[in-house]
Amino acid sequence: MEEFKSYVVRETDGEVTHQLETNTVENLGDGDTLIKIEYSSINYKDMLALQKKGGVVRHYPMIPGIDLAGEIVRSESDKFEAGDKVLITGYGLGTVHEGGLSQYAKVPHEWVVKLPEGLSTKDAMVYGTAGFTAALSIDALEKNGMKVEGQPAILVTGATGGVGSVAIQILRHLGYKNITATIRKDYQEEKAREFGASDVWDVSDLELGKRPLNKREYKFVVDTVGGDLTADILTKVDEYGSVAISGNAGGMKLQTTVLPFILRGVNLLGINSVEIPMADREILWDKIANEWNVLDKLHFDERGLSEFGEVAEEVKAGKHIGRTVINTQN
Ligand SMILES: NC(=O)c1ccc[n+]([C@@H]2O[C@H](COP(=O)([O-])OP(=O)(O)OC[C@H]3O[C@@H](n4cnc5c(N)ncnc54)[C@H](OP(=O)(O)O)[C@@H]3O)[C@@H](O)[C@H]2O)c1
Repeated sequence: MEEFKSYVVRETDGEVTHQLETNTVENLGDGDTLIKIEYSSINYKDMLALQKKGGVVRHYPMIPGIDLAGEIVRSESDKFEAGDKVLITGYGLGTVHEGGLSQYAKVPHEWVVKLPEGLSTKDAMVYGTAGFTAALSIDALEKNGMKVEGQPAILVTGATGGVGSVAIQILRHLGYKNITATIRKDYQEEKAREFGASDVWDVSDLELGKRPLNKREYKFVVDTVGGDLTADILTKVDEYGSVAISGNAGGMKLQTTVLPFILRGVNLLGINSVEIPMADREILWDKIANEWNVLDKLHFDERGLSEFGEVAEEVKAGKHIGRTVINTQN
């Protein structure tokens, strides 16, 4: 392999540009493991990687793409052999280290997960970082008391997005039926219900109320939006309920009081898919491939490497729904 294609983000005189380029293995960063990438996927962070002040790219030029699935070409680790099918999510992929929107990646072997039995490289990226984060959020809520018995009231925010849409579909698959989805455009209601929401909450003109506590409406929350929406939700979580927060699509600041925590015993659970230890990753991917497998239901589309910029624009404009996999060899 002499030359191949990578999507590259560059910064010149303070301006950020991005395009498909011809590349060589020397430009892939440090790593003892070379992977031929078959699929990557589009996540919110990938859209941010193309923005001037996106805040995620640590150096330029950068190959974006925070996840990938493909085949081992060579590795210095005896855990892997040429031909093994593998995936990576998180660590510094696509932000600190050259990422998955390329036909090859060179990475430390410590980042690499062997594909669980029954999951193809494409399947893995249909879930991708977003699906993995959805699973991580549900796992955290179940570890904090969420059970199908009793059908607790569950809220999923950003429900038409990658994390939210996969979360609803896994929850439904596990037997949860009482799921409210937040939307902010009329046409999203039909999609949210298709994913499995039993109710929708239009948050498009949400105004933060003054009361520190409101009527208890939800017991468990998968929150991908953050900001004022999280602040409002915290006032409405039932006694000893939990909010698994992974996102900041709606803002970084969280204005709250201590009352939900000290008067209702609410838990705010931080979800970080980037640094989660390898043993936990492997357990969760195994669940995703087996008892939590919703591949037959997941909504996704497939695009080529050169189309990444267009998909990122759709994400930025809030016009993107569900998941998009990128066929990097196309
Ligand atoms: N913690 C982690 O490890 C981790 C991992 C993955 C993702 N994330 C984060 O999770 C978030 C979601 O990621 P994603 O890939 O699912 O993104 P996505 O596909 O773009 O979905 C974002 C969702 O949030 C909604 N939204 C955006 N701004 C909102 C606002 N102000 N009020 C209400 N809803 C709003 C969007 O609705 P519209 O379509 O109407 O805009 C969309 O439904 C991002 O912040 C991402 O960085 C974190």
